[in-house]
Amino acid sequence: MKKIIVANWKMNPSTLKEARELLRAVRRAAKKLRGVQVIICPPFVYLSLFGRGRNNIHLGAQDVFFERKGAFTGEVSAAMVKDIGAAYVIVGHSERRKQGEDNVVVNRKVKAALAEYLQVIFCIGETVRDIHGRYFQFLEEELLEGLQGISRNALKNLIIAYEPIWAIGKSADDAMRPEDMHQMSIFIKKILVKRFGKRGALKVPILYGGSVEPENAESLLREGEANGFLVGHASLRAKDFQEILAIANRVK
Ligand code: PGA
Repeated sequence: MKKIIVANWKMNPSTLKEARELLRAVRRAAKKLRGVQVIICPPFVYLSLFGRGRNNIHLGAQDVFFERKGAFTGEVSAAMVKDIGAAYVIVGHSERRKQGEDNVVVNRKVKAALAEYLQVIFCIGETVRDIHGRYFQFLEEELLEGLQGISRNALKNLIIAYEPIWAIGKSADDAMRPEDMHQMSIFIKKILVKRFGKRGALKVPILYGGSVEPENAESLLREGEANGFLVGHASLRAKDFQEILAIANRVK
């Protein structure tokens, strides 16, 4: 399976000029890499100017609204995202959840995106880790409620991004340890198998997100057995992101 590397630019960069430069740098670096699939998720306004994905570089939105159309000021529909040339969408990112999105809203968004045949990068992750392991229960709920009513058939359009919130926006030293990621990946797979059965469930890629940098990328892929990454701050630094892509391309 090709490694999936998602760049989540969040609300950056501040100008279209910088955004174009960053996209160009990523395109240049990714062109020759056969072992990775790169997904750039810029803010909506840039997305509409970036055209369609090419070769192994695809475009994705950072969010989507659950209604199809109508009087919803400020919102963007899955159909619009699709029409503009994006094939992917991040749903349920912790920074959206922090703005008040709960599992019910996230579930509606997952459904709306799947209905348009977008590939959904569905984010889950605990805020803190307690010694009693209650975060396992929390994650199971996020997964099952977020995927409520989803058919087994739709799993082929699903990617899970496991992003422990306590590890987001820091540095490689504060990220999750590879052995812990390995454990989480097994845990998530188990829940998916229980809910959907082995066929299909085991093919869902599980990405890691939370302070991925060139320093920890290789170990999270090898020992952590992540199928790829959701990269935030390091995706805004062309050199760091190129390095992460090169590492992912190398790790089999
Ligand atoms: P980070 O962000 O790489 O800056 O931790 C990851 C994310 O929030 O998706």
